[in-house]
Amino acid sequence: MKSKTFYAAMLAAGLLSFSACDQSTKQQSTKMTDSTTVGQLPVASGFEKTIDGKATKLYVLKNSKGTQAAITNYGGRMVSMLVPDKKGTMVDVVAGPGSVSDYEDAKGNYYGALIGRYGNRIGKAKFTLEGKEYKLPANDHDNTLHGGKEGFDVKVWDAKQIDDHTLELSYVSADGEQGFPGTLKTTVTYKLTDDNAIEIAYNATTDKATVVNLTNHAYFNLNGCGAGSILKHTLQIDANGFTPVDKTLIPTGKIATVQGTPFDFRKATTIGSRINEGDEQLKSGQGYDHNFVLNKHTLQTPIATVQGDVSGIVMEIFTEEPGIQFYSGNFMKGAFKFKGDKKDDNRTAFALETQHYPDSPNKPEFPSTELKPGQTYKTTTIYKFSAK
Ligand code: BGC
Repeated sequence: MKSKTFYAAMLAAGLLSFSACDQSTKQQSTKMTDSTTVGQLPVASGFEKTIDGKATKLYVLKNSKGTQAAITNYGGRMVSMLVPDKKGTMVDVVAGPGSVSDYEDAKGNYYGALIGRYGNRIGKAKFTLEGKEYKLPANDHDNTLHGGKEGFDVKVWDAKQIDDHTLELSYVSADGEQGFPGTLKTTVTYKLTDDNAIEIAYNATTDKATVVNLTNHAYFNLNGCGAGSILKHTLQIDANGFTPVDKTLIPTGKIATVQGTPFDFRKATTIGSRINEGDEQLKSGQGYDHNFVLNKHTLQTPIATVQGDVSGIVMEIFTEEPGIQFYSGNFMKGAFKFKGDKKDDNRTAFALETQHYPDSPNKPEFPSTELKPGQTYKTTTIYKFSAK
């Protein structure tokens, strides 16, 4: 359904003063204050569908600062995040589609989705655990990417909106689903805090030994959804090392130093400044598509900071995970419909997916992703926004 959209609905509900999806031109920024053209984001009804007998819906979280996050229980996806830029204009920094049907069309890109059971790749679509080999569906070369052909990103999660700030999503993955052992009971809580942060808390238990690596695959453009290239954003990652990959993006098992390579983001650097340098690793990923080995950290200190060059919006990431996949949107081919009648396009958004390292189930030298009965998988990641 096409309409005056989600933003207009929010305006009508008095939740928002104005909005933006593309601030890249003067003409568009003039339009932003005109409520008749605030048609940048989808209406809530674009999210009302029945899939596998379960209802999908859009949930809106808000805080005392006027910041809002919209999440759908279809794949537990972060649909939008409206935060103020340096001038106080609200900008939607989440890039991606604006209805369940558009997400279905763009399935392989995992826009905004919760990823499970295993975020990132498992080599040769198999692993051995406690002496038993488990075969998974291959959906990326011969490998399994983001939990297989029917991962958590296409499941309808049970949703409970606890209050204005908090949405709790649950999904029970049956023993053997996508080849993984054990019934995995998963709960993910999104919480929008008053300091303009979206906190994602993951929790899972199993009844058989298994592997688990949950993450969120939001694509961000800090200048606004559809606002063009992200190559001039600055990025800082607190990582001395990264995991080099083979041609199919499976880690070799080594941890390489970032020193003297285009992977050194220890000081804030523009994303695009070294992306075309001809580095072999960048060729394999057709850009950045690599796991960074985070330096020792706690949830109190950001491990990555990104800033939009036009908006001044700063996103800080805090996590309990040991790694982060930096994906510079290399395979966005202009085929999918985004919010605000935009299209995706190469490198118009980036993802920073907090995680355990790719292919850990086959790499005993990497931190373990095993979960046993009686244990609880528990991890939190926070994306915090400000502007300067
Ligand atoms: C992967 C990319 C992939 C993208 C969308 C990222 O997490 O690392 O290789 O193209 O997700 O599927």
